[in-house]
Amino acid sequence: MTTATHTPAHVPPSGTGDVPEASASLAAARRRSDQLEADIVRDPTRFRVLTGDRPTGALHLGHLLATLDNRVRLQDAGVDVVIVLADYQVIADRDETGDLPAVVREIVLDYLAAGIDPARATIFVHSAVPALHQLMLPFLSLVTVAELERNPTVKAEAADAARRQRRGMSGLLFTYPVHQAADILACHGNLVPVGQDQLPHLEVTRTVARRFNQQYAAAQPYFAEPDALLTEAMTVLGDDGTKMSKSRGNALELRASEDATAAFFRRAKSDARRHITYEPDARPEVANLLRIGAHFAGTTPEALAESVGAAGAGRLKEVVTEAVVEGLRPLRARRRSLAADGDAVVRGVLARGNARANRLADGVLTDVRELMGTVY
Ligand code: TRP
Repeated sequence: MTTATHTPAHVPPSGTGDVPEASASLAAARRRSDQLEADIVRDPTRFRVLTGDRPTGALHLGHLLATLDNRVRLQDAGVDVVIVLADYQVIADRDETGDLPAVVREIVLDYLAAGIDPARATIFVHSAVPALHQLMLPFLSLVTVAELERNPTVKAEAADAARRQRRGMSGLLFTYPVHQAADILACHGNLVPVGQDQLPHLEVTRTVARRFNQQYAAAQPYFAEPDALLTEAMTVLGDDGTKMSKSRGNALELRASEDATAAFFRRAKSDARRHITYEPDARPEVANLLRIGAHFAGTTPEALAESVGAAGAGRLKEVVTEAVVEGLRPLRARRRSLAADGDAVVRGVLARGNARANRLADGVLTDVRELMGTVY
């Protein structure tokens, strides 16, 4: 599961596996994604990826393995990658935004350190791009409340907001799949990396695009219906054995020191069985450590399990710590040197990104107003 869309980590996968109809559509989405991957190799310039994060804290190991590495891969393949820092979505389910400029800065540093290249990719902040939000109004007119209520992620968010915040679901949270449609369509994004639990989300964007075309651009469709690019991303667990998430406080931040990294793995949950084996279902915490360690050591979880074997969880944690510290060394070094340059780098990246996002969104809004006949 990736967090490619507005996903608090506590939203469980929607269990598509056991419903025949859903698994058929999942299989179809997989086939489509394989086709898209082949098309990317053939002609990456046909694609613009829109993806993003809510600036609620510095990025962690889960982000790196679930989304960041994939974004860098797409960028390096020659795809135009556009990343939104969705500051207006931070207030969808909370009253406190924290220090947004500071958080945005940390995340931009994380992006750059992870290999996002601002000369090729675009990083922008929601609130700096007004035309994007104006698009949301006509888009909202194209979906019904019932459709939003049926959206599995909105449902999960509602339940979660109620549980966690003791506050009712805000109108912004309720409509955020439409806001996301605006993010994507404001730059004519045609590819959105998602985990399988996020597929229904993109359906709202596709519906908005289709209905806009039917209503205002029947002669010649204006918006392309964006495709989901399913990513088989690793789910990373936090030190408490649940999915790694900023809001749970169980995360290993990318920017963490080596000591903090060692401490994180020392306190990470394992289990009572001494002999280390790779059994993802029976031993999820140990399997998680094995997958992380194997990823950075360039081996398989099975081989890593074999090599630790009877030495037990303590040894496994040492091995994993070493692999992660080594694996993240270049990223952390880049991050430190970027941070040492003060705010100038981040400011420059955002100024360019915001300017490009404004150009794209202004162009789309101009077209939309013409198509709707609202030019006066
Ligand atoms: N909501 C996403 C998150 O919380 C970030 C996001 C905003 C996004 N708009 C998007 C992701 C559009 C994909 C497409 O992580």
